[in-house]
Amino acid sequence: MEICAVLFTCLVAGLALTQAYPLHASCKVQWSLPSVSCQSFSSKIIAQAKLWEKEDNCAGGGERCLYKITDQSAQEIKGTHTTPVKHYVDDISFKLTPAGAGCNVEGFSTSETWYAYLDYGTNYCNLENLITGAGLNTSQGYTETTNDDVCTQFSSHDCDKY
Ligand SMILES: *[C@@H]1O[C@H](CO)[C@@H](O)[C@H](O)[C@H]1NC(C)=O
Repeated sequence: MEICAVLFTCLVAGLALTQAYPLHASCKVQWSLPSVSCQSFSSKIIAQAKLWEKEDNCAGGGERCLYKITDQSAQEIKGTHTTPVKHYVDDISFKLTPAGAGCNVEGFSTSETWYAYLDYGTNYCNLENLITGAGLNTSQGYTETTNDDVCTQFSSHDCDKY
């Protein structure tokens, strides 16, 4: 077990030298929504997750299904997304900070599977699909900020697939 841990550390360190992605498959995204209140953001994301709760929403492909909201407060929404084929579970969260009439949001998604490193952008899409599904990306002044350093395989994501 200890040898395993050491080998794993070396492997991760080696990967870290050659890749810019986070050491564990995960994704952090900042959104600014100057024209959407945090309360409205929250209710739209929760409604979208409920619409995509069942597996049959993925019958035609993609991963817009198997969302579950596990906790919600004025400051944060927490939930999970399960991949339809392999049933990997990812933890997702949206932290909400009111900004004038709008809302600043920090989204985070991370794979529960401890050895996950590459994810085809799934952690990004876990968050992004809810945002675009709820139409929040079309709100006035909407901006999104993330990059490969904080979001695994962001630059090669395909949210219609993963
Ligand atoms: C919002 O996201 C959807 C789905 O990805 C996309 O089709 C649409 O063009 C986006 N709208 C804007 C204004 O970016």
